[in-house]
Amino acid sequence: MNKLSKAKKIDFFETPSTVINWIAPHLNKEFNYYDPCVGRGQIPKILSNHNIKVIGSDIRENNIYGKGGVDFLNADYLDYADVQAFIMNPPFSYSFEFLKKCLIIAEKHNQEIWIFEKLSFLASKTRSAVMNEHLEGLYVCSRRPSMYAADENLDLDSPYIEKPMGGTIDFAWFKFKHKPTTKTVISLT
Ligand SMILES: C[S@@+](CC[C@H](N)C(=O)[O-])C[C@H]1O[C@@H](n2cnc3c(N)ncnc32)[C@H](O)[C@@H]1O
Repeated sequence: MNKLSKAKKIDFFETPSTVINWIAPHLNKEFNYYDPCVGRGQIPKILSNHNIKVIGSDIRENNIYGKGGVDFLNADYLDYADVQAFIMNPPFSYSFEFLKKCLIIAEKHNQEIWIFEKLSFLASKTRSAVMNEHLEGLYVCSRRPSMYAADENLDLDSPYIEKPMGGTIDFAWFKFKHKPTTKTVISLT
C-alpha cells in the first residue's frame, strides 16, 4: 500500500460485475450517473453494457476511468445540475461522509443516490436518522460477493478478475433520495 492509500484510507476494492449487473435493471437509462470514486471504472464499464451512462472521478491520479485527483469530500468536479443520480462503491471508512455530501447536493438538485455497502450500513445509531429520513430502497444481494483489495497499479484495460460469489459479508445497494416517496426492499438475484 502506498503512502496516499495509508493516509487517506483509499480502500480500493473493485465492485464485482455480478452485483452491478443485478442493479442495472433498477436504474434509469435516461439519467446521467456520476461515480465520484470510480477507480478503474468497474461501475461505468459494466453499466455501459446496459446502455446506462456514468461519468467518474477519483482521488487517485493514475489508472482512473475519468478525472483523477478529485477528492469528492473536499472538491467539486462538475456542475451537479448535469447529473440525475450518483452511483458508487465508496471507500468503506468514508461511506457516510460520501452519503452526507450527496444528500446536501440532492437537496438542491434532487438526485437519486445509489451506494453499494455492507448490509450492516443500515444498522447504526449514528446513521439511524439519515436512514429513516432518506432511504428509499434497499436492494439486498441474495448471495455474498467476494471482495478483495485491488492493485492500484493495474491499468484501465486490465480485466477485473471476478471471484466466485461466496464471500463472508452481506452487501446491498442502498438507494437514497433527499425526499423519498416510497420504501422498496428487493432481494437481488
Ligand atoms: C471501494 S473502491 C471502488 C472503486 C470503483 N468504484 C470500483 O467499483 O471498482 C473506492 C474508491 O474510492 C476512491 N477514493 C477514496 N477516497 C476518495 C475521496 N475522498 N474522493 C474520491 N475518491 C476516493 C479510491 O481511490 C477507490 O478507487
